[in-house]
Amino acid sequence: MTQTDGYLLDNRQTEAGQRFDAFATLFDPTTFRHMERFGIGSGWRCWEVGAGGTSVVSWLAKKVGPTGRVVATDIDTSWAASAARPPVEIRVHDVGAEEPPGEGFDLVHARLVLVHVPDRERALRSMVKALRPGGRLLIEDADPALQPLLCPDEHGPEQQLANRLRHGFRKLLAERGADLSYGRKLPRLLREAGLREVEADAYFPVTSTACVDLESATVRQIRDQLVTAGIATDEDIDRHLANVASGSMDLATAPMISAWGRK
Ligand SMILES: C[S@@+](CC[C@H](N)C(=O)[O-])C[C@H]1O[C@@H](n2cnc3c(N)ncnc32)[C@H](O)[C@@H]1O
Repeated sequence: MTQTDGYLLDNRQTEAGQRFDAFATLFDPTTFRHMERFGIGSGWRCWEVGAGGTSVVSWLAKKVGPTGRVVATDIDTSWAASAARPPVEIRVHDVGAEEPPGEGFDLVHARLVLVHVPDRERALRSMVKALRPGGRLLIEDADPALQPLLCPDEHGPEQQLANRLRHGFRKLLAERGADLSYGRKLPRLLREAGLREVEADAYFPVTSTACVDLESATVRQIRDQLVTAGIATDEDIDRHLANVASGSMDLATAPMISAWGRK
């Protein structure tokens, strides 16, 4: 099995674009706040790992300007490809299996990527190796085990169904090798990797229309796998999608833990 096959949420499906848009709405403000605090600016050299869509890559390009460099990598670059113009370079690259695509980076960033990479340890080592001395690493990953519910306020049958399907989705992710309590480990892993000034925080929305879009795209994307694994019937999924579309449920995400440090 290749790593692309092992990644449950394949980028090739159209829902992937909707998921990337929802990630941007939900998490870009947090990501950009951290990068601003590092002092990102003109001339910085950045590596965006597992870029997915274009929102972070385009923001980085604007910040670093024509004298900077943004290397955006992913095992599937089909969604990031439209951002490929200087200072952005897009490359197909597996962070868990290949050498870094350069060295001397001022900033290396991966969001919601490492949790899916089988050889996370190697990926982290590779990202640290690619930094210049004093360069910043920012890793952001979910910790679904800290907050596993799609509907923390489980007050009726709609919310119970939503949480049952969410539980099944987590099970599929875990079977594919995702570490569902990875986020909380990041500060320790960054220190063990030799970084200094390590800090971390966490964020998650408790209700948001972007969560509705994310849930709808995710369930449509993994529908066949949920049914095949016996986690839900087609009727369950249709009912859940209708409940989600009604806009009457408060949908949350897992906490996203952002951890950062300096080489
Ligand atoms: C959940 S998406 C997150 C995308 C983007 N970072 C964001 O926050 O919107 C995970 C991304 O990681 C990529 N990915 C998964 N395994 C990877 C690997 N081994 N090396 C590089 N990218 C990988 C996927 O193709 C996908 O684009």
